[in-house]
Amino acid sequence: MDTTAVNHLIASRRSVFPKQYNKVLVPDSIIHQMLENANWAPNHGHTEPWRFVVFTGTGLHRLADFFQSVYLGSVAPEHFLKGKYEKQRNNIMQSSHVIAILMKRQETEKIPEVEEVCAVACAVQNMLLTAAAYNIGCYWSTGGPTFKPEGKAFFNLDENDKLLGFLYVGNFDGDLPLGNRKPIVDKIRWER
Ligand SMILES: Cc1cc2nc3c(=O)[nH]c(=O)nc-3n(C[C@H](O)[C@H](O)[C@H](O)COP(=O)(O)O)c2cc1C
Repeated sequence: MDTTAVNHLIASRRSVFPKQYNKVLVPDSIIHQMLENANWAPNHGHTEPWRFVVFTGTGLHRLADFFQSVYLGSVAPEHFLKGKYEKQRNNIMQSSHVIAILMKRQETEKIPEVEEVCAVACAVQNMLLTAAAYNIGCYWSTGGPTFKPEGKAFFNLDENDKLLGFLYVGNFDGDLPLGNRKPIVDKIRWER
């Protein structure tokens, strides 16, 4: 294992946002690899609660229509922001793929819900790291219809399932900025 490469991958991964995407399609083979790696995330009780819906091509239009209809339905006319309405569509159409991030709740509900959300987050991190390794831009958004009831119907979710956001994916040009984190030593206490 090239541990230097792994360490570098983790620290150099950056969120890359739709306005940075260059409209060059990401090959479906890379999307498949991201999803395959998501499937290897740890999870408690073999629930494997992550589910994904991949939008690309004309699917992006359907997703953009959905985002805009949810926004229209949730905002009073006097608070309607044309810029926000258009940005939701533009962010989606600027992307090569958008992947809806879903959590399928265990039937028995034996595993606490928070653990299922954690497992999905691990799966998403696997996707983010895979994209970074292929120099593909992506970021996890919890904007738009995330956490809104309309998401349940759109994605045919059951009452206890969750829509946890959207992974925007696209190619980009140029270099990414260095990340910024406060030192880990300030967030750890060792007990020996
Ligand atoms: C659960 C989760 C939800 C996020 N939701 C949003 C979001 O709605 N909008 C946004 O701009 N960034 C969102 N982000 C991405 C963060 O902005 C980004 O990770 C943060 O700025 C750190 O930058 P980095 O990913 O380049 O290290 C989210 C990240 C996570 C983990």
